[in-house]
Amino acid sequence: MSSFDQLISELELLEADAAKDIAEAIDVEALENLRVGLLGKKGRVSLVLASMGKLSGEERPKVGQRANLLKRQLQELLTERLDKVKSLALKNRLVEESIDITYPPSGVPFGHRHPLISTSEKIVDLFCGLGYQVSEGPEIETDYYNFSALNIPEDHPARDMQDTFYLRNNLLLRTHTSPVQIRYLEENPPPVRIVAPGRVYRRDAVDATHSPVFHQVEVLSIDEGLDFSHLRGTVMAFLKSFFGDLPVRFRASYFPFTEPSAEVDVKWRGRWLEVMGCGMVDPAVLNGLGLDPERWSGFAAGLGVERFCMVRHEIDDIRRLYTSDLRFLEQF
Ligand code: DAH
Repeated sequence: MSSFDQLISELELLEADAAKDIAEAIDVEALENLRVGLLGKKGRVSLVLASMGKLSGEERPKVGQRANLLKRQLQELLTERLDKVKSLALKNRLVEESIDITYPPSGVPFGHRHPLISTSEKIVDLFCGLGYQVSEGPEIETDYYNFSALNIPEDHPARDMQDTFYLRNNLLLRTHTSPVQIRYLEENPPPVRIVAPGRVYRRDAVDATHSPVFHQVEVLSIDEGLDFSHLRGTVMAFLKSFFGDLPVRFRASYFPFTEPSAEVDVKWRGRWLEVMGCGMVDPAVLNGLGLDPERWSGFAAGLGVERFCMVRHEIDDIRRLYTSDLRFLEQF
């Protein structure tokens, strides 16, 4: 084979090889290596051109032309493939980094306050805003704190087995938060202003408005010169902050530990609903604590948290508050 034919066939071989290699290159780096190996100073095309010395004057431009044509072709192939490789890489990245917004979340869900607790906290907050301090007492009480010290006589129906859960050793589950009044006054001389939230227990059958376990907030204020107008003013200010403009009424009532006593109703869904009991602390209670009723007077109140919660959230059945149904609780 003549040198001329040899160089021409070498260029043809090179063309076929290069086209195949370029088409198979998978990334930018591989293409750059190919470019250097084909078109670089010491690349395969340059090698062919370097060996043109053996050719005749006529043959040389022919091989030169062929080689230049090949250079342009290879350059085009390389550029084309480079574009393709780049757009493929982008596509792959988009697939890898895409976010499936329908995928279930993996985070741990946050809990929140039970509506009864948040209601109790709101009541306590409002009294704290009026200068009251939080106090608490035990849920297991003695007969003395739950009844006797509160001027509740031996034969009072509240002491009945029907109403009270009795434990061994003269202990019982407190039937109201009022014993906190006595415990606090034993330790702290007046003036006092306290608000005492807590759980209480009664032997009630469960229905839409009763539960054997429920929640109260006790309020007590003892000072010099307190009278019923202070009680009424405090209760009205509190109810207005809590309920807004719901109608309120005071009804004369009876509690052994207050005199006079009242029950307070708010009008809800066209009916009067009792939400708290209150009154002026009975002098017999103060005497029992060694406080002079001629000097000290005050008022107390006991609020039913469930009622406040039901009105606030438009809940019509107390049982919903205790069944721990998340579909219900998640609404608050
Ligand atoms: N302890 C009463 C009850 O559970 C509620 C109550 C009424 C509390 C009048 C008071 C009060 O402090 O003054 O039914």
